[in-house]
Amino acid sequence: MKKLAPSILSADFSKLAEDVAKIEAGGADYIHVDVMDGHFVPNISFGAVVMKSLEGKTNLPYDVHLMIENPDQYLEDFVTPNTAFITVHQEACTHLNRTIQHIKSMGVKAGVSLNPATSLSTLDYILDDVDMVLIMSVNPGFGGQKFIPSALEKIKELAEIRRAEELDFEIEIDGGAKLDNVQEIVSAGTDIVVAGSAVFKTPDIEETTKQFISKIRSV
Ligand code: DX5
Ligand code: ZN
Repeated sequence: MKKLAPSILSADFSKLAEDVAKIEAGGADYIHVDVMDGHFVPNISFGAVVMKSLEGKTNLPYDVHLMIENPDQYLEDFVTPNTAFITVHQEACTHLNRTIQHIKSMGVKAGVSLNPATSLSTLDYILDDVDMVLIMSVNPGFGGQKFIPSALEKIKELAEIRRAEELDFEIEIDGGAKLDNVQEIVSAGTDIVVAGSAVFKTPDIEETTKQFISKIRSV
């Protein structure tokens, strides 16, 4: 089943638990947690403390997206009973295999993400080991940017590689997903759609979540 992971980067942090309750009521599958360090990307968001403030306030699993340098140094901080995935960037990992094994050794699913200009071929020797590949459809750093269309081609190629090599990682897309392009995104082969501004910057967050889910599940 196709899944929705709303990104709390676009939530109202002064009432984060309330915003999260709305996506949960709308049927969201994950909370996408965008962590930015001001080095790997030109913006600082929040860290594990903010994510952990939701403990006991939601049953949704966390889909953690680390846009940070030296992720190995901080992985433990993001492991909680709610943590489903921790995703690191290929571009930020000198020893990607080691980092992926480190995540898995903590009982969490491991993802790897590619920036828009990074080739799928950089994952040739790691696809066997990952639980998820996150294709960036914007240059990471900010919510509310425009979808980069070449990401669709990348998703199609990745889905084909998965089929041909009989692998079973999930494919996630992140950036610029809206109600009017989400069906095209899912049709290309995406399993998990991240949406930030298109969910949280709307007047009725719960209703928008429901609309996203009904669109992605009717493809
Ligand atoms: C971008 C983040 C995204 C972002 C998506 O660096 O990784 O998750 O919040 O936001 P929208 O859906 O607004 O493009
Ligand atoms: Zn993200």
